[in-house]
Amino acid sequence: MQLNINGKSHAVDDIWADETLLTVLREALGLTGAKFGCGLGQCGACTVMIDGEARRSCLELASDLAGAEILTIEGLASDQGELHPVQSAWITQAVPQCGYCQAGQIMSAVALLRVNPKPSPADIDEAMRGNLCRCGTYQRIRRAIAEASEMV
Ligand code: FES
Repeated sequence: MQLNINGKSHAVDDIWADETLLTVLREALGLTGAKFGCGLGQCGACTVMIDGEARRSCLELASDLAGAEILTIEGLASDQGELHPVQSAWITQAVPQCGYCQAGQIMSAVALLRVNPKPSPADIDEAMRGNLCRCGTYQRIRRAIAEASEMV
């Protein structure tokens, strides 16, 4: 089958019918930005965008996604290497600590700003509540999203 990931079509052969998108991204395609945290849809480390919405790639069957537009952290910057405003704000606000959850956090933030370019603090908390950070970088994440909202 073909998967459309980051604007390119990828041939994905020999996958099981119950293979998750996260496994295919990481193991078959080498796109390791999305992380395996819980595998149960509870931590958000595996978040990618599917057809413009933040989704848990550990819960998505790759075989269901032919024709879908999948965006991972690897496809967020422009082809010229210009960072997405959320990525830039992540740097200026020095958000990452251990870094494990950050790709998922960023993809959820990008999905939020796509539908709500000027989110309130409550909107940010609501949109991000499914993304856990064991280092507790939540205040910096909030500040980065607020900063990015001024740029999008
Ligand atoms: Fe998918 Fe935790 S690994 S939500």
